[in-house]
Amino acid sequence: MDSSEVAGRSHNRFALPEIEADDVLRADRDHYTHAWPTFRSAKETNSLVVTGGEGAYVYDSAGRRYLDGMGGLWCVNMGYGRDEICDAIAEQARKLPYYNPTDGLANVPAVRLSEKIASLAPGELNHVLYSCGGSTANDSAVRLIQFYQSVRGKPDKRFILTRVRAYHGSTIMTASMGGNPPERSPHLRFVTDIIRQVSCPNPYRRPEGMSESEFCDFLVDELRTTILDLGTENIAAFFAEPILGSGGVIVPPDGYNYRTWQLCKEYDILYVADEVITAFGRLGYMFASKEMFGIEPDIITFAKGVTSGYQPLGGLIFSDSIHNVLVNAEPQATFINGYTYSGHPVACAAALANIALMERENICAHVQSEGSYFERKMRELGDLEIVGDVRGSHFMMCVESVKDRSTKESFGPSVGVGDIIARHSGELGLIVRPLGTMNIISPPLILSRSQIDDFARLMRDAIVLTQQELAASGDFDINIVDGLSGG
Ligand SMILES: Cc1ncc(COP(=O)(O)O)c(C=O)c1O
Repeated sequence: MDSSEVAGRSHNRFALPEIEADDVLRADRDHYTHAWPTFRSAKETNSLVVTGGEGAYVYDSAGRRYLDGMGGLWCVNMGYGRDEICDAIAEQARKLPYYNPTDGLANVPAVRLSEKIASLAPGELNHVLYSCGGSTANDSAVRLIQFYQSVRGKPDKRFILTRVRAYHGSTIMTASMGGNPPERSPHLRFVTDIIRQVSCPNPYRRPEGMSESEFCDFLVDELRTTILDLGTENIAAFFAEPILGSGGVIVPPDGYNYRTWQLCKEYDILYVADEVITAFGRLGYMFASKEMFGIEPDIITFAKGVTSGYQPLGGLIFSDSIHNVLVNAEPQATFINGYTYSGHPVACAAALANIALMERENICAHVQSEGSYFERKMRELGDLEIVGDVRGSHFMMCVESVKDRSTKESFGPSVGVGDIIARHSGELGLIVRPLGTMNIISPPLILSRSQIDDFARLMRDAIVLTQQELAASGDFDINIVDGLSGG
């Protein structure tokens, strides 16, 4: 298929007969509760029903094709329809679909995947513990940390440090660790007694008059002060995404990740890199911590790209130092943690096939070259009137729209600027994720150069159409020139 079909309405094997498509929409409204639902609007609006995928594209029930700028949800790294992964899943399901993961029992894919991940992970990270996704990976990491600190005789080390705009998951503990203001729902009760948050390292929103390196100093000082105020003897761990994802693809200032890691080492605080998004190729490395930021965390959590989303799987990798303490603990205590589907053989077989495919296709080298090109093309959107900031790295990007670029004044939430851009891009055949005033971009890593050019053109057109719509509604006080690519 050539690129001119991106926005086309092609009828293909993924299209549903109209009567069935309508019935799916009815059943969706009546019975299917989506993730993060707004119950009333879910009742009133039709979902986009995605019926198939191929490479970097997905198809809806009418057979329309879209470039998938979300990569599913930051996860379909190797793209859709990869036979190697599908075959591995089918083969393992026939051989052994499931077995009990508790002590004294093992299955071959879980063992082999642990060995493989340990070989890819930095430094002395050699021990893998599985969960069912990223939330449960971080949740288990908290429990492993509590267990470790207690077993080594430091049970008071219980505080978990995180950051404003962090996202670590949707269990009660990990949601409590998260720092996205809109997610602190007044209707829910969060864990508050052992969590402290420090500032978000967002250079675009740094205090007026501060240089980026002064901002970095400020953040490091703030972390040090927080540690000293709480008392290092009370702090268990610091959780950090190397680049914050759902908080708005925030790339911390140069040196921030390294310096905060150093600080944690200085004060005997475990450093947890949440690489649920950044691992498995998104930034051009299997793990970004060491190769991109020069840090060797005590624990790395992962999920998503480990199977390219073909199966639900997550986990954490912890260090020999932690392992040694646990092995030599007296008296031997059981670590109370585990899930029926920990180390699920079919999910682990999918991960093994996915990683083999990544290596065979040298996806990290592809991301390093084509991801850099993608980043450049996205940054070119910065000349548009409502684009305040284009940020990110490689195939992990975000466009933040603002009402006034000189003051960085945001559009109010009632404008829904991210939604408007997403609506226009969807109509043009490109899916990007709206998040308030931002649009989050995380396509499959396999994008070719011509697909990247299509992506950039469609994104530009979607923003130009949004500017025209805002100008027409009086929400944006400027004379908009057309600027559509006509492509
Ligand atoms: C950085 C990070 N950590 C954890 C999670 C939670 O992962 P999951 O949704 O698989 O539970 C996410 C999900 O987007 C994430 O982005």
